[in-house]
Order: sequence, then structure tokens, then C-alpha cells
Amino acid sequence: MNSIYPPREIIEADRPPRPAGVLSRGYRDRLIERGILGLYRWYTARSQETRNWNVDMGFDWRNIKTTFSPTVKQILQGFFAVEQYVPDYTAKAIDLVRRSHGRSHFQIRWGSEEEKHADTWWNAVLFSKSRTPLELEEYKHLIIQKEWELPWEDPVHLLIYTVFQERATQLNYINMAKIAAGQKEGFESDACPVLLKVATAIATDEAAHYNFFLESARLHMYYYPLETLEAIRDVLEHFAMPAQKLLPDWQAFFEAAYKAAVYGPREYARDVVAIGLEQFGIASRRSLEEGIKRTRLVPDENGQMVDSAIWETFDPNSIVKDVQRLYTKINGFESKYGMDLIDPTQFVPNPVWKTV
Ligand SMILES: [Fe+2]
Ligand SMILES: [Fe+2]
Repeated sequence: MNSIYPPREIIEADRPPRPAGVLSRGYRDRLIERGILGLYRWYTARSQETRNWNVDMGFDWRNIKTTFSPTVKQILQGFFAVEQYVPDYTAKAIDLVRRSHGRSHFQIRWGSEEEKHADTWWNAVLFSKSRTPLELEEYKHLIIQKEWELPWEDPVHLLIYTVFQERATQLNYINMAKIAAGQKEGFESDACPVLLKVATAIATDEAAHYNFFLESARLHMYYYPLETLEAIRDVLEHFAMPAQKLLPDWQAFFEAAYKAAVYGPREYARDVVAIGLEQFGIASRRSLEEGIKRTRLVPDENGQMVDSAIWETFDPNSIVKDVQRLYTKINGFESKYGMDLIDPTQFVPNPVWKTV
């Protein structure tokens, strides 16, 4: 896999399209970087405007239910544990993408939001008396003995992994919100308005994270279709939730989440993989795998595919529309504070992109 992210050499990166109409790798890397930076700036403004809640003051902690079922108690502790590895998630991702202004700065802000999730679930476990302060303290010390490692060593695979991981996390919290709203059969007695507000607030953050990574990944797909499709295939082949190997009580957490239909193989296949693939314009895992296999490998000197079955692997029309929509969003934001007149983020069409 290529190691992307500029500046490699500013001279190459700045080079305009070649006569044949093929964009050089350096130029494409620069376009991706620039797009992600624009998206990050849009994201930050929106995050501050709409999701700037405080962990301690934002919820009526004194009135959270104190009689949750053992299943819900176990899930709450598991949510806390998974989020508690946020220093590892953030530090290691930043280290990998440190040369990308957009991605590295985004990871810092992302980390600050994930940190809120860990502290919010911590509060939820404590105030609901799901665990005593001493139990939770000991549990925290136990889990943090282990260190989370990056599931992928290259930025593109990590980006794709994060798309699916954020979607899975969002789904976990949406399903917890359903329990808290009294909408899950067999868990009606776990209804709780405070937990509903908590789970909804965190799920909303996860949706925003998912969207950021998805938009970034689609941008990458627009300029590097085959490499991105291959990364999607690889990631889905090995996908596991973070901290799965780290938690001493993972099995109990998994079984509780399964029992409450919060998260399990069914939810993963239907609400994570199928939905994620759809948003990449891919019909199914099988069509992705077969499409990649069928693809005739005829790259030009830049490694770019010029003519192949790749276009049948996914819907290029939907991706280009998504990417254009992304630039419209970024440009709209830039015009709000005058950046449109100074240094606007510009969409550069990929000339080899199939027009349908
Ligand atoms: Fe989170
Ligand atoms: Fe997240």
C-alpha cells in the first residue's frame, strides 16, 4: 500500500495534471489532504456549535435509575472500558498520520470527544450504582494494564477500519438508547430518561465521527478506487471491535450485548457491514470480492487504473456525487468566514473516473 500524505515534495505535489489527463500520485495525495483539512475545519465548527456538552453538568446524574438489570449493568461497564482506551487510540493514530494536517488535527479533536464518552459512561456506571466506586476503580486499573495496538499499520486501512468501527460504536449506543426508551422487548424495566439522554448524546457524536471518516474514505476512493476497495475488503476480513482482546470480562460483555440485541453478529452484518458498504456504493461483500478479483490489473506508470472491471465493483456515480456534495459543504463553510476569497478548497475531477 502506498504511503500517502504530503508534503512528500512540494514540487511534485503541486504539479498540475499531466498531458494524458492522469493525476500524479503526489497531486492526488495533496488533493485528498486538502479535502480532509477542509472537512476537519467544517467539522470543528459544527462540533462546537451543536455537540459541546459537558460530561458532569450535562446530565441529571442524581436521577439515573439505580436498579438496572445485570445485563444493562454489564453493558454500561463494557462501554466505559472500550472508551477508556482513548489515550491509546488517539496517540497511535496521531503518530501514524502526523504529516497530514487534516487527519492529525482531527484525531486530537476526535480524542477529546472520545474522552468525554469514557467519562460519561464512568458516571453512568457509578451513579446508577451498577458498580461500587471501589469496584470500578479496581476495574479501571485492571483494564489499563493492557495497551491497545493499531489494527492496521497504514493510514488508508486504518481510515477504513475506523469507518466501520465508528458505525459499530454508534449502533451499540443507539440500541442502548432503545433500551433506555423502553423499546426493547424483555428490557422494559430498564427504561430511564437519564440513560436515554446519555446514550443519545454519545450516539450523536459517534454518528459525526462515522461521517467524518466515511467522507474522508470516499475522497480517497475517488482518487484511488482500487486501493480503497482492496482496503475495504481487507478490513472486513479481519474486523473486530477495539479492546476485544484487552478486556478481562469481554466474554461477559459480549454475551450481555448479544442478549440485549445491542450488538452481535446479526447487528454487525446487517447494520454495520451492509450499511457501510452501501455508503461506498458497494452492493455486498461478495460483489466487492468478486469485483476485485475480476479487475484486470492494467495500471499506468502511476499505478492508476485506466480501464478495468473495477467500475462494476461499485457505483462510481454515487461516489462522485458524494464527493461533490462534500466540496459543496466545505466551500459553503469557507464562504461563511471569507476563506473563499483567500484560499478555497477546490474540487479537481479525477479524469479517469468513469462517467455514467
Ligand atoms: Fe466514543
Ligand atoms: Fe467515536
